Amino acid sequence: TEPLRVALLGCGTVGSSVARRLVEHPEEFSARVGRPLELVGVAVRDLDKPRDEAGLDRSLLTTDAEGLVTRADLVIELIGGIEPARSLILSAFEHGASVVTGNKALLGEDGPRLYEAASEAGVDLHFEAAVAGAIPLIRPMRESLAGDQVRRVMGIVNGTTNFILDKMDRTGADLADVLAEAQQLGYAEADPTADVEGHDAQAKAAILASLAFHTRVATSDVSCEGITAITSDDIRTVRRMGCVLKLLAICERVERPDGTAGVSARVHPTIVPRSHPLASVREAFNAVFVETELAGELMFYGPGAGADPTASAVLGDLVQAARHRVTGARGPGESAYAQLPVVPLGDV
Ligand code: HSE
Repeated sequence: TEPLRVALLGCGTVGSSVARRLVEHPEEFSARVGRPLELVGVAVRDLDKPRDEAGLDRSLLTTDAEGLVTRADLVIELIGGIEPARSLILSAFEHGASVVTGNKALLGEDGPRLYEAASEAGVDLHFEAAVAGAIPLIRPMRESLAGDQVRRVMGIVNGTTNFILDKMDRTGADLADVLAEAQQLGYAEADPTADVEGHDAQAKAAILASLAFHTRVATSDVSCEGITAITSDDIRTVRRMGCVLKLLAICERVERPDGTAGVSARVHPTIVPRSHPLASVREAFNAVFVETELAGELMFYGPGAGADPTASAVLGDLVQAARHRVTGARGPGESAYAQLPVVPLGDV
């Protein structure tokens, strides 16, 4: 049988792990999909950068990302940022390819346009890797809980800041002392202000709120306060209260007195009692606590960043998109949504 052609855009730490797995375990993918997957190209910015560890045939490398997407059935976008990622994804749709991305910034800023473009083209857009790395979260929120009503989502969705706050709590150190250590873990964004100012969590909150409440929430709708103002004194005070400080993304369904509903989405340091499941999330782990009408309380926990864990999410999406190709199924299973208004923080 004809293989499905896979194009990889971006070959950083996650991309390398994805490529390695595809090249080293082709039989697993063909068995799970029912058709072989063939990596037909890897678009990079710099052809000369050493990337031997990915086990890649160098002839697969190209700087022509635009050309590469035109000859793929499945495109994995791991470039990050808004452009050229957005244009390449839209071009992939136009050429009939399904897309897997981990691009939280782009989905937070322009998700609706991408969902609609995918739907119009009759192809898939999957993004499990965009929020909380390896933790299966997007699909459960979108599919498993689709018959329930989510009331609230509270998540530790940034590993770097959780590592910093956890370390401050355990050692009494100041933020400045532990930031460098957090960066050495390799989980921080290229510009670590995106982590400590909460912007990374803010984009993830927008994605989570959109899924949880079947609506459209953009990053700019989410109020955001990071952890830069947190001192070791604050941590000590919270500790004496029997609590711990966590940077949480909180997305809630808000019922107003007049009977209308809205969504509140925000990111800020939050005092969490030590008895709450989120308080036990250590180091750079992520966890998302979901309260629903029927299921009650759920917690999703695991590695929220890192090359191999994030690759796990990307490859799971790839298998799903590939299976859809084989069976002729369409899309990730989301269609109708209600445009719930975003409620300003002061009104909650
Ligand atoms: N900078 C992010 C974090 C990477 O620290 O969680 C994963 O999105």
